[in-house]
Amino acid sequence: MDGIRISVLGMGYVGLAGGMGYAKHGFKTIVTATTPSKVENLNKGIPPFYEPELEGLVRTEVNRGMLSATLNNLEAIRQSNVTFICVGTPSLPDGSADLGAVEAVAKDIGIAIRDKDGYHVVATKSTVVPGTTENLVLPIVEKYSGKKAGKDFGLVMNPEFLRQGQAVHDSLYPDRIVIGEHDAKAGEVIHKIYRDYKNDKEEPVPILHVEIKAAELIKYAANSLLATKITFANEFSRICEEFNIDVYEVMKGVGLDFRINPMFLNAGCGFGGSCFPKDVNAIVALAKKIGVETPLMDAVLYTNDIQPMHFIDIIKETVGNLKGKTVAFLGLSFKPDTDDTRATRALPIIEKLYEEGAMVKAYDPKAYYKFKPLTDLPIGYMDTIEEALKDADFAVVQSDWQEIREIEPETLKRLLKKPIVIDGRRSYDPERLKKAGVVYKGVGWKNRE
Ligand code: UDX
Repeated sequence: MDGIRISVLGMGYVGLAGGMGYAKHGFKTIVTATTPSKVENLNKGIPPFYEPELEGLVRTEVNRGMLSATLNNLEAIRQSNVTFICVGTPSLPDGSADLGAVEAVAKDIGIAIRDKDGYHVVATKSTVVPGTTENLVLPIVEKYSGKKAGKDFGLVMNPEFLRQGQAVHDSLYPDRIVIGEHDAKAGEVIHKIYRDYKNDKEEPVPILHVEIKAAELIKYAANSLLATKITFANEFSRICEEFNIDVYEVMKGVGLDFRINPMFLNAGCGFGGSCFPKDVNAIVALAKKIGVETPLMDAVLYTNDIQPMHFIDIIKETVGNLKGKTVAFLGLSFKPDTDDTRATRALPIIEKLYEEGAMVKAYDPKAYYKFKPLTDLPIGYMDTIEEALKDADFAVVQSDWQEIREIEPETLKRLLKKPIVIDGRRSYDPERLKKAGVVYKGVGWKNRE
């Protein structure tokens, strides 16, 4: 296959951060979206969402003609010889993934390659359960193209492991590349794209070639294990609280074992985001369908659901009855450095605060436009942290953006009615706040000392 040209169907975090990476590595890349304003803006170098460093890098690639966007999937596919499917696979009410968008773009790929000369590689990057690429994407592309997989076009599943907030770093410097291949020729084409990728230690990135179904499951297994690590720390946080032990100290001692490692053992008010809740639910739904029991994953989802309510218990133990209290609520996004509010723990916590009769003055540097549509509650959306803190009875931290982490104890003392911080992300040094005269309580902290 001469010069690789790439089309990326979908302009979310995976599609755009990945597409920018391909362009930066010298592959002409066209990204598609279904919203005209997203395409117009992207062609001016403006991404449709906030992600650190992405805008500058996108602009550079757009300006040097390596990255562009179109509304027209067929045109994008026809101008390329590798197509990545990067559309969303949101949860359905039963937890399984909605594959409507995957089906629709598979049909577009079939139509577009029908009269196109040369070998074309179709790569699923969207998170899909095992079997989806071969049993759904393959037959649709074959049907609409009249061509044969493994002969006229290649089929691959290439999962994406990027984290929001670190999407640029993770897509430019991945830990590993997984290529699930239906046919070895297609796997080799995708291998070529990633051949020069390095990890963040400037070492060549391991590229793992596996069966296509295994690649699909690797993504779910990785996310389920990370969600389990967090949940493990959250469960231990409760045991720690009873004994007045700091769970972070305990997990540090645990994580120093190289077989475990210290990452993703940070207890908090639960995991949110577009991946962990959706992917663990999807794998549980799939297992149920095929008659496999998943008590561990069931427990992960259960514990994560009740963790926000456990955080409410800590709040109530600290400040008593919530009726009539005003809460400075810091951080609405599901984690810092992203405007994404999907499955954010802020929502169940705020809903419960209102149910208990409290009022919320919230602050988040980026997430208002995505949080506001989630609830009609009369939340005060403040322009600055200071406005949120001013005359509130106490402060709660749900998402520890840097500017939230950097609040000075003196500011808390000056603005809050009572200097009390209840920390859902363990963002502060408790001893420093205590010394300055601020009451500090948090998940997995020595709250009863
Ligand atoms: C995750 C995976 O990390 C990534 O590999 C995958 O491709 C997509 O899903 P993301 O959802 O962007 O990425 O964020 P991540 O940093 O993993 O955090 C997810 C949630 O877990 C957040 O709500 C975060 O606050 C929480 N978390 C994370 C913890 O509570 N404790 C931790 O130790 C780590």
